[in-house]
Amino acid sequence: MGEKTFYVTTPIYYANAKPHLGHAYTTLVADSLTRFKRQRGIDTFFLTGTDEHGVNIERAAAASGVPLQVHVDRMVTEYREAFARFGIEYDRWIRTTDDYHEEAVQNLWRLLDERGFIYKGNYEGWFCAYCNEFKDVEDENEPICPVHERPLDKVAEESYFFRLSALQQPLLDLYDSRPDFVRPDARRNEVRSFVAGGLRDLSVSRASVKWGIQVPGDPNHTVYVWLDALSNYITALGWGNERHHDFERYWPALHLVGKDILRFHSVYWPAFLLAAGIEVPHTVFAHGMWLSGGRKMSKTMGKTIELSILHRHFTPDMIRYFVLREMAFGQDGDFTYGALIDRVNADLADGLGNLASRTLTMVRSYFDGIPPRPAGETQSDVADVILQAKTKFDKEFHALNFSRALEAGWIGVARLDKFITDSKPWSLAKDPAARSRLENVIAIAYEGLRHIVLLTAPVLPETTRQIWSQLGLAGDPLLINPNEARWGEPLEVSKVDRITPAFPKLAKDKIMAEIEEEKEKPQIEEPKREASDPPPETAIAQTLSPPLAETIAIEDFVKVDLRVATVLEAERVPKADKLLRLVVDVGEPQPRQILAGIAQHYSPETLVGRKIIVVANLAPRKLRGLESNGMLLAASVGEEGKPVLATFAEDVPNGARLK
Ligand code: MSP
Repeated sequence: MGEKTFYVTTPIYYANAKPHLGHAYTTLVADSLTRFKRQRGIDTFFLTGTDEHGVNIERAAAASGVPLQVHVDRMVTEYREAFARFGIEYDRWIRTTDDYHEEAVQNLWRLLDERGFIYKGNYEGWFCAYCNEFKDVEDENEPICPVHERPLDKVAEESYFFRLSALQQPLLDLYDSRPDFVRPDARRNEVRSFVAGGLRDLSVSRASVKWGIQVPGDPNHTVYVWLDALSNYITALGWGNERHHDFERYWPALHLVGKDILRFHSVYWPAFLLAAGIEVPHTVFAHGMWLSGGRKMSKTMGKTIELSILHRHFTPDMIRYFVLREMAFGQDGDFTYGALIDRVNADLADGLGNLASRTLTMVRSYFDGIPPRPAGETQSDVADVILQAKTKFDKEFHALNFSRALEAGWIGVARLDKFITDSKPWSLAKDPAARSRLENVIAIAYEGLRHIVLLTAPVLPETTRQIWSQLGLAGDPLLINPNEARWGEPLEVSKVDRITPAFPKLAKDKIMAEIEEEKEKPQIEEPKREASDPPPETAIAQTLSPPLAETIAIEDFVKVDLRVATVLEAERVPKADKLLRLVVDVGEPQPRQILAGIAQHYSPETLVGRKIIVVANLAPRKLRGLESNGMLLAASVGEEGKPVLATFAEDVPNGARLK
């Protein structure tokens, strides 16, 4: 990470259970930070992925009764789909089961071994399979994991060790010479005291775990999952493998992690790198935890905020704004739906959304849709307030103080709102003599709004794009550096005409009651509805989804033969970036081949075994010389129309018809 490049990572998530809000949180932060840096012209790389080895994953696969590879592939699909639904745009998704990663981890092991940091010994201790960590226990008669409140396993086995103890002084020197290495400060102090208290060598192999990367030269051992997992941050860039070639360009990284895994990132990880002679990360930032009812959200303890419930009632922008605004980055916060609704209503619906509708409506009514531009000499202090908000936003965002940055942005929103109210443009509009004053007021409102939209685009990517286009401006606000946008500069603007509210006001009591009901039936993807009920997400869908196609008769619909199918094979079509060739079982004697334009969003290996829906009576057609005999169904999400495959929560036989 040089001056002109920026590399941000999230933890790689365990492929043992479905993603919840906690996982989405770090990833949303990384995504917004990436958009922020790119908007300012910084060459940025954003990595996320999945941690797929170890005893936890073995157990989860056994519990769901499927082969390990099928299990991890399914979990990866769950994660990728969840993140796609939030509009998250990472640059690379690493899986610890990727062969290039496995090869690179073995290379790292060899290097550590050659440099004298690995030796063989015996280990005996209390092991928590959920933390994947040996634990110190207070009471040998009742060994319980303090995090998971579950019994620990006694593990005694031959193991390879890493000479962590030899790295104590280099680590202390690192913390002392680079105060920004661990952030925030309070966490750095904790980590420093932990290391100053003495370090024992670390067991870095497991003889009892089969689902892992083999230790080079010893088939009886697999590499300890944390050594395997932490290495992802460099292997994904091409360290130790030939698959990628981005290491020189982007390393070192900013690692965003929850405080739950800080020690692994700020002690073990730099220790491995120092031992291997590889540059350490730039910064490890430990953020706090979202609590649910005062307790940590945890999949193993069944206390999570379900993403399906969140998506049913809120748009990705609302959730993203809330999590960045509500929680001071670094501290814990309690997640409540009530607080989310209140913030959306106050800051988005009544705040930015209302400011946008007011301003646009006035441009349309008083100036026939052509926005007046500010005249230099009649500027008010509003311009100064907005420019100060911009400077503060920029500074706080760079410093990862997202909540303070947004607070600064909303000082701008409030000032503009007050300016409009105080200037009473509706009265000025009635007085022909006040025309130039009216022009000035609307010009300032429009210009202020334009700057606020540019500023908040990394946190509200969908809605700001929508407001931008309603302002009559071309392109995407994320492609314009707010620091280069000057107040009152000449603009190419097309006429303001269609105005749709950016944020609907949420009906708190109604939504809270619905959520309470849904919480009783966790894991259900869609609530049961009567055929006559309106479609779900009504309030949100009205403003965000494309208009409905024209009404058709039932006779038209029955002409479309929709069938349940399973993907048997999937592969990329050479020289076609977007196409995958699938072989699917539609319940007929012979499988059929279909081509689907989803290669940029689904990797072929994640599709095999998946249930999909196919339009089975579509006339065959040829694409790139291959015949496609049908079409798969996918939702088209966001402005780019990202495909998200339609599937079933329950098991359905191939060939079943959808009516
Ligand atoms: N696989 C390891 C990480 C290896 S990184 C080399 C792991 N995975 S995890 O699936 O358990 O994800 C942990 C991370 O998810 C946390 O560090 C944090 O980034 C995020 N969160 C999980 N629960 C969270 C909250 N309740 N609140 C905020 N973030 C949370 O640990």
